[in-house]
Amino acid sequence: MQNGSSSRTVGIDAIAVHVPRLYLDLRDEWARVRAPELGEASVEQLVGKVSKGVGVTEMAVPDAHEDSATLAAMAAVKAITHAGIDPRDVGTIAVGTETTVDQSKSIGAYVLGMIEEHFGVELRRVGAPQFQFACIGATYALESAVNAFRAGEATKPYSLVIATDVSKYPLKSAGEYTQGAGAVAMLVSESPRLLALDARVAGTITRDERDFFRPNGLSTAVVDGKYSIDVYLGAIAEATEMYLERARAELGRPGARIDQLADHLLFHVPFPRMSEYAALRVLGEAWRADGSLRGTIAAAAPQLLSTELERDPAVRKEAEKALAKSVLFRECYERRIEPSLALSRRIGNIYSGSMYLALASLLETAADRAALAGSRAAFFSYGSGASARVFSGVFVDPQRAYVPHVTQALDGARVPLDVATYERLHAGPSSDGPPSLAQPGKSVLPPAGEFALARIGTDQGPARTDLGYRYYEWVAS
Ligand code: HMG
Repeated sequence: MQNGSSSRTVGIDAIAVHVPRLYLDLRDEWARVRAPELGEASVEQLVGKVSKGVGVTEMAVPDAHEDSATLAAMAAVKAITHAGIDPRDVGTIAVGTETTVDQSKSIGAYVLGMIEEHFGVELRRVGAPQFQFACIGATYALESAVNAFRAGEATKPYSLVIATDVSKYPLKSAGEYTQGAGAVAMLVSESPRLLALDARVAGTITRDERDFFRPNGLSTAVVDGKYSIDVYLGAIAEATEMYLERARAELGRPGARIDQLADHLLFHVPFPRMSEYAALRVLGEAWRADGSLRGTIAAAAPQLLSTELERDPAVRKEAEKALAKSVLFRECYERRIEPSLALSRRIGNIYSGSMYLALASLLETAADRAALAGSRAAFFSYGSGASARVFSGVFVDPQRAYVPHVTQALDGARVPLDVATYERLHAGPSSDGPPSLAQPGKSVLPPAGEFALARIGTDQGPARTDLGYRYYEWVAS
């Protein structure tokens, strides 16, 4: 049953991305150094695996003055500026992150301070919660912000939802080439200009899993790589099923498949090939259940129709491998998924922001952004540990609401790192400890036109105590 508050149209009014200027080219010196260390047959084999098999060519690396808080503040300033709003109209700054900068203080409070400094305003009547659940944290932050508007509880016209992370695995591990860093900021509002989120359709599931985690005190994640892929796929499939049950009823489309409901499929992207694996799972499930596609499926991927599929992972693997080569899948993939991957190929995994980077990628690379208006995007959010949430929204006026800025930043001011410098930044202040890579004063590129970690407090005495406290400041260009 609908009531006045739940029928409000709520969604994303603006979205902006910030990534570090430094990056590592995975086809260059790094591959020459790592191929023997990783036991690869040749440099070409490693480059092929990483750039085609995994799907990444470049990886964003934070400089010594950057961390999850500076990245978040930079993305927030861009979102506010692009939307042309008064920052005093923001009522909540909700941050999703799994690489926080302090064990107590929320990144949102730091971002608030940086926004105040940058725009010369005072923001007091603002909530600033932090959401942690691996890569799905920002999705829970978005849900919370959206629900506040739907319930009529928002006190100001906008909420800021920020996904920010520095993804870090041990050097010389299979996770190393799936690192990255960046933040995505979204302004949530009623009557959004960019994307109106569908109400009452989301499917959310959680399972107690050990696929990926970061024990207290460790700066790098611990991951069971192949298992993490299986858990991701299982969780996404289950959440999709729940989404479909609700969406078919709510959108008045009984029996509709996911690819009939949604024009764009935006997945959590730890690495671009993962979106292909996820699309094969989600579309494979949709198509094998549709009698009208039986002939096409029988010709393209007969194993998909096998009753063994549910019980035997090897049969499923063969079926999805065959489906991956079919015209049916390739056409769907090129149109509905590939446009969402361009940015992550050059940035890497930004954890909580990676699915929202896929949204920015679709907007950024669209040949005709205006033509996206009225089309529906389905979002497949995943966080290890493990939770998945599938939801959807319809583009409103993407031509006017989105300001392209990411490709230009990647093409323009980025600076490649040599392996020794990258490894120095990766080590950070200590190899164990918090995930921050930041070491004030040791930047590769001096901060310019950006927020920077200026210093870390050292006092502990009667006059002042700030031992370990992080001080941020705007550094003009
Ligand atoms: P790996 O051992 O480096 O790669 O692990 P592989 O040997 O499995 O090969 C990968 C693909 O490359 C295969 O393709 C190979 O055939 C192909 P497939 O058979 O699957 O189609 N390949 C080549 N292709 C072209 N040319 C070549 C070539 N050689 C091989 N020369 C893995 C890859 C992703 C497991 C590893 O990098 C890893 O552990 N990464 C970290 C974990 C991860 O990202 N998991 C994803 C799911 S969990 C998740 O998304 C959550 C997360 O974001 C965290 C959070 O929620 O907080 C991680």
